[in-house]
Amino acid sequence: MGSPPDTSKTSKLERYNSYLRRLNSAKLISASSKLLFRFTLLATILLIVLLTLHYPVPFLSHSSHPSSSSSFTSPHRSLLSSSLPLESIRRSATPSRSNGLSVLVTGAAGFVGTHCSLALNKRGDGVLGLDNFNSHLYDPSLKRHRQSLLASHSILVLDADINDSRLLSLLFASFPFSHVLHLAAQAGVRYAAKNPHSYIHSNVAGLVTLFESAAKAADPQPAIVWASSSSVYGLNKNSPFSESHTTDRPASLYAATKKAGEAIAHTYNHIYGLSITGLRFFTVYGPMGRPDMAYFFFTKAILAGKPITIFRSPDGKDVARDFTYIDDVVKGCLGALDTAKPSTGRPGGGPKTGPAQLRIYNLGNTSPVPVAKLVSILEKLLGTKAKKNIITMPSNGDVPFTHANVSLAAKDFGYRPTTNLSSGLSKFVNWYVNYYGIKLKTSTGATEAA
Ligand SMILES: NC(=O)c1ccc[n+]([C@@H]2O[C@H](COP(=O)([O-])OP(=O)(O)OC[C@H]3O[C@@H](n4cnc5c(N)ncnc54)[C@H](O)[C@@H]3O)[C@@H](O)[C@H]2O)c1
Repeated sequence: MGSPPDTSKTSKLERYNSYLRRLNSAKLISASSKLLFRFTLLATILLIVLLTLHYPVPFLSHSSHPSSSSSFTSPHRSLLSSSLPLESIRRSATPSRSNGLSVLVTGAAGFVGTHCSLALNKRGDGVLGLDNFNSHLYDPSLKRHRQSLLASHSILVLDADINDSRLLSLLFASFPFSHVLHLAAQAGVRYAAKNPHSYIHSNVAGLVTLFESAAKAADPQPAIVWASSSSVYGLNKNSPFSESHTTDRPASLYAATKKAGEAIAHTYNHIYGLSITGLRFFTVYGPMGRPDMAYFFFTKAILAGKPITIFRSPDGKDVARDFTYIDDVVKGCLGALDTAKPSTGRPGGGPKTGPAQLRIYNLGNTSPVPVAKLVSILEKLLGTKAKKNIITMPSNGDVPFTHANVSLAAKDFGYRPTTNLSSGLSKFVNWYVNYYGIKLKTSTGATEAA
C-alpha cells in the first residue's frame, strides 16, 4: 500500500498559485488605472486648450466678480489680458492732446454714444467704446455702420456686454480711464412691455456691474457720467420739469429702471466715493438716430405713403415733446464730463477719503413741440403729405408732455441748447435720404430711390 498523497504540499502550491493570480490581477488593475488616469489628464488638458483657443476668457465671462486687485503685474490678470487687444485699446483710449480725458464710452455704437465719441475724439480726448450690438430695439446694422464710422476716426468699439464684470475689471485695471460715459442701456418706453427683462439686464444689473468694477477694480477710480432719462418725471404735472421735482411715479418699466439707476448711483457714491453725474435726456433726435423713435419711423412711413398714428392725450390735448437736437445733448455730455470731479474712493473698494460729487441734470431743449407740429415740419421737408390717423394715447408708458428746465446745467457747465426743431429735423432728413439712398423731389412731392 503506497503512502497517502501529501495533501499539505498540494494545498500550499494551490495557495501560492492563487497568491500569484491575485498579485497579477492587482498589477493589471493598477496598470490599467494608471493608464486611465493619464488618458483622462491628457484629455482634460486638450479640452482646456481647445476651449481657451475658441473662447478668449474675458469675452466668455458673464457673472464673475470683479477682481479686487488693481495691480498691473498680477499674473492672474496678465494671463487673462493676453486675450484682449491691449495695444489697440491703449491706442484708442490715449488722448492726443495734453491733459485730455481718457473716456470709456459704453453704448458707443448707439445713437448718442457715437456722436459723443466723435466729439471727444475731435477735441483730442481718448475714447474706448464698448457695445453689445443687440438687436432688441432696432436693426443692429445701423450700429455696425456707426462702429465703422468710429473706426475711421481710429476709435475702437469692443463687442462686449456691460454685465461682463471680468472684462470691465480687466479694462479698468489695464488702463487708467479718467472718465466713463455710460450710455449703454435698453432704451425705448413701449418695448418694455414686450421684453421687460432686457431692461433689468442692461439698466439695473449692467449698471451695478459697471459701478462695481469702477469702484473696486479701477486705479484710479474714474468719474462717471451716465444717461438717466426725462421719463423719470413720469406722471409729474409740474412744468417745466426741474431736478428738484419728485420722481416717484414712473409710467413705464423703462422709467422705473432709470429711476432705480439714480438710486443705485447714490449708493455707489455714498459707499465707494464714486463721482457720479446723471443726465436726464429729453427726446434726443438727429442724424444716425434711433429707428424706433417717432420722428424716424414717421419719416419712413411718410416716404412710403403709409399711414402714421398720432396720439392725443386722454383730455384731448396734443401730445408734446421737448425734442432736443443731438449736438446740444453732446455739448451737455462733454460739459458734464469736463466739470466732473475725481472720485474719492480707494482702489479695491476701500473706504473713501471724503465725500464725492453726486449730480443730476436735465438736458432738454426747453420748448415742447406738439407731435402734430413735428409731422407738419416733416411733411414740408419730405415734400409729401402724411396720412394721419389721430387716436387717444393708450396707457402704454408714454406721457402726454415733457418740458425741461435746464437752468442747473446752464449754471454749472454753460449748457444752452441752440437748435430748433425745424433746423434739427432738416439735418436729420438730409442724413436719412443719403443713408437710405432716397432722392427727394420736393417740388412735386414725389420721392424715388436714388
Ligand atoms: N435718445 C433719447 O431720446 C434718450 C432719451 C432719454 C435717455 N436716453 C438714454 O441715453 C442712452 C443712449 O440712448 P440712445 O438713444 O443712444 O440709444 P441706443 O439704443 O441707440 O444706444 C444704446 C446702446 O447701448 C447698447 N447696449 C444696450 N445694452 C447693453 C449692454 N448690456 N451691454 C453693452 N451695450 C449695451 C446698445 O446696443 C446700443 O447700441 C441710453 O441710456 C438711453 O436710455 C436716450
